Amino acid sequence: MAKMHPMKSNQGLHIQPENQRRGYDIHIGSGFINHLSDILNLKDYSSIAVLTDSNLEPLWLKNLTDAFCCYTIIINPGEAQKSIPSLETIWGQLNEHRFDRKAVLINLGGGVIGDLGGFAAATYKRGIDFIQVPTTLLSQVDASIGGKTGINFAGIKNLVGSITQPTAVVVDPLVLKTLSDREFCSGCAEIVKHGLIRDRDYLAEIEDWDFKNSDLARTEEIIRRSIEIKAEIVSADPLEQGLRKILNFGHTAGHAFEALSLGHEKERLLHGEAVALGMIVEAEISRLLGYEDQVAKICDLISKFNLPTKARGPFELDSLIERTRSDKKNVGGTTRWSLLEATGKAIFDIEVKEELVKEAFMRVI
Ligand SMILES: NC(=O)c1ccc[n+]([C@@H]2O[C@H](COP(=O)([O-])OP(=O)(O)OC[C@H]3O[C@@H](n4cnc5c(N)ncnc54)[C@H](O)[C@@H]3O)[C@@H](O)[C@H]2O)c1
Ligand SMILES: [Zn+2]
Repeated sequence: MAKMHPMKSNQGLHIQPENQRRGYDIHIGSGFINHLSDILNLKDYSSIAVLTDSNLEPLWLKNLTDAFCCYTIIINPGEAQKSIPSLETIWGQLNEHRFDRKAVLINLGGGVIGDLGGFAAATYKRGIDFIQVPTTLLSQVDASIGGKTGINFAGIKNLVGSITQPTAVVVDPLVLKTLSDREFCSGCAEIVKHGLIRDRDYLAEIEDWDFKNSDLARTEEIIRRSIEIKAEIVSADPLEQGLRKILNFGHTAGHAFEALSLGHEKERLLHGEAVALGMIVEAEISRLLGYEDQVAKICDLISKFNLPTKARGPFELDSLIERTRSDKKNVGGTTRWSLLEATGKAIFDIEVKEELVKEAFMRVI
């Protein structure tokens, strides 16, 4: 069977997941948030709901919804919203307003809104269309692409969810101007990851990128390449049976930090910050296994984006290891790691001795 790859469309990309009937467009451009109804065919929907959070409501909701009629669902911001009560709120409001199967849910927000709203739409009446309008750098380059949706459960990240593709993704770099520096840098962790696992030339570009003084056009170029990399990988392997696992580089250790920090409001790590630590740990594991030593290079890049190279806060080695054991990618109780063989080349499904994992974690705690 011929492999399908993302193609350039008007201003964006098209994702055609391998072996799946329906593909979708990713529209990328500054100011697109004001033109959603020109870019997408919203007229065919029986009703439209927009899910967003109370931070974004005063900033960008009006820009998005000015040109069409919709019902809005506003929730509190934050990772804690990836929960069953939030799902109940969304399902309840869709039901109360008699949303049928021809309705659409537009998710305006970061990865939390995208993951939660995507899962609510994937399950409401066995699935209605949803459109992702990501507003954080992290969600633009990563979370909104590839159809992973879900919530956290029992203290485990994304334990319950689905892989359901959106109908479209609209990426507007302009909305990043209201994002905090800390959140922006969190997104840079995934950009670094994309370079490390797939494209050494792009990684060199990221090293040169003067992100603090970058004009919007340059930022858009960086975003576009990151999206291309993610799109290429998820198109080839939408259900994460193989290649897609390389996107988990930094995430097995990263999710352990992220989950443990959830209970400590003061020490809370953002997703990208946890992934930054996770990438160092997993680069260290790769080095200990004899692959090309990338650790210093990764630490330099992570520092450049003001991301942590040492874990602050009460992280105990045993708790971290315990968390990696509950990782979703594990099979038969064995942790499977996505690691770096060399710059731009990742490998997956690697089993690693626990002693070595412990040694690698010690690099950052
Ligand atoms: N589905 C996937 O493939 C995937 C991939 C990576 C991460 N994720 C998930 O994404 C989540 C993290 O997403 P995130 O980093 O976008 O965080 P987030 O969604 O929590 O957003 C971060 C904060 O920024 C605010 N915000 C968002 N856009 C803004 C803007 N333009 N201006 C001002 N404030 C803005 C939000 O209100 C929130 O307070 C995690 O739950 C993670 O598991 C999912
Ligand atoms: Zn991530």
